[in-house]
Amino acid sequence: MVSSGAQRRSLHGQWSSRLTFILALSGSAVGLGNIWKFPYIAGVNGGGAFVLVYLICVFGIGLPIMISEILIGRRGRRNPVSTMSFLGEEETGNKHWRIVGLLGVVASFLILSYYSVVAGWALAYVFEAGSGTLVGIDAEGASHKFDGLTGNWFISGLWHSLFIILTVFVVARGVEHGLEKAVRILMPALVFLLFILLGYSMIEGNFSEALIFLFAPKFSDLSSEGILSALGHAFFTLSIGMGAVMAYGAYLSSEASIIKTSIAVVMMDTAIAILAGLVIFPIVFAHGLDPAEGPGLIFQTIPIAFGQLPGGRIIATVFFLLLTFAAWTSGIALMESPVAWLMETTGLERRKTAIFVGIAIWMLGLLSVLSFNELSDFELLWGTFFDSFDYLTANIMLPLGGFAIAIFSGWFMSANSTSDEIDASVDGVYHMWRISARFIAPVAVLLIFLNAIGIV
Ligand code: PHE
Repeated sequence: MVSSGAQRRSLHGQWSSRLTFILALSGSAVGLGNIWKFPYIAGVNGGGAFVLVYLICVFGIGLPIMISEILIGRRGRRNPVSTMSFLGEEETGNKHWRIVGLLGVVASFLILSYYSVVAGWALAYVFEAGSGTLVGIDAEGASHKFDGLTGNWFISGLWHSLFIILTVFVVARGVEHGLEKAVRILMPALVFLLFILLGYSMIEGNFSEALIFLFAPKFSDLSSEGILSALGHAFFTLSIGMGAVMAYGAYLSSEASIIKTSIAVVMMDTAIAILAGLVIFPIVFAHGLDPAEGPGLIFQTIPIAFGQLPGGRIIATVFFLLLTFAAWTSGIALMESPVAWLMETTGLERRKTAIFVGIAIWMLGLLSVLSFNELSDFELLWGTFFDSFDYLTANIMLPLGGFAIAIFSGWFMSANSTSDEIDASVDGVYHMWRISARFIAPVAVLLIFLNAIGIV
């Protein structure tokens, strides 16, 4: 008899409750992707049409794949590589499905290498804000400050190192400890501060122009590359397509509803990204900045708002602290699957493995640190190391991983297995998920890929 996920136990423990899991999953989803990357790539890709395609990708493709990933994780109850090989064998007799898990481990590794560089910037800004250097800053000053930080490889390298150390610290102790409390308090605090900033942007910024920019789609502005970025970002922001969610799903109790959890997380993640956009673009337009500024966008806009708000010094410090925390909980999720995998394959203990993985990611991350100074002219396939790692992971590896996960759960796992994991009480919902996983999500990913390389 095929045993169900309910009878298996994860080697790494279990979440204490469904709430903890929701918190951990949102902690992984909400991060730099929402507050730093979404506004920046929405700006680069011309706004409205990009935002619309992004929203369609999040709900039409991302949500069903998140459900697939959690259910696979919970059924396998192992690290993503072993889970895919184990379930691959159980469901289809073929262990090669482990390649999907391996692709995810590599993607996590690559993403964390540059993610920690940006998180390092956020960390640096905690101290900038705290020491009062942002008070009264204008657009020019803000952009000068940002260039000063990223242009100095030594300083930005130090912040990058510090972020990696913080992440290793938590992963080394085991993910459940500490994460729950952190997310439970910090996430609402972050949202609260975003609302304060929203108030500022509505009053002082050019809010109407921002609304038009974000929500009035002009399809002529959207290239097929832009569509691919919207798809890639849907995966990136939801942390799907690379096993991170699978790794967390492995620690989920059998009773929790996967569908409800996924819907809650996806909605929260999207709301926070939109909120960040509504904060940033009014400032961009009020100060005549370029929406297509690039990766520095939030660091060049948010300080202006704080520079003018009463009590701005304290609020700015707290804001960047919370942003760092949001990045931290995502960094932890990114490190968990490579660490869980190495532990289970080598038999090394968790602490040593986390340190080893941390050092490797740190070294790779130095290439991204250098992309803004010494190596800024060095072009790989998609720009600097930083740009290329981002492109390769978000726009290629995650959609590919997501495609494989959808196909596996929709076509290769038996309906018995999947309906076992998905609350059968809500029948219509199960069918909707299955249709999405079998047809909608994979076909959409395929079409967007073909479109980007010019075939469709
Ligand atoms: N979703 C995170 C963010 O938006 C990034 C991330 C990607 C985290 C993949 C874990 C896994 O910042």
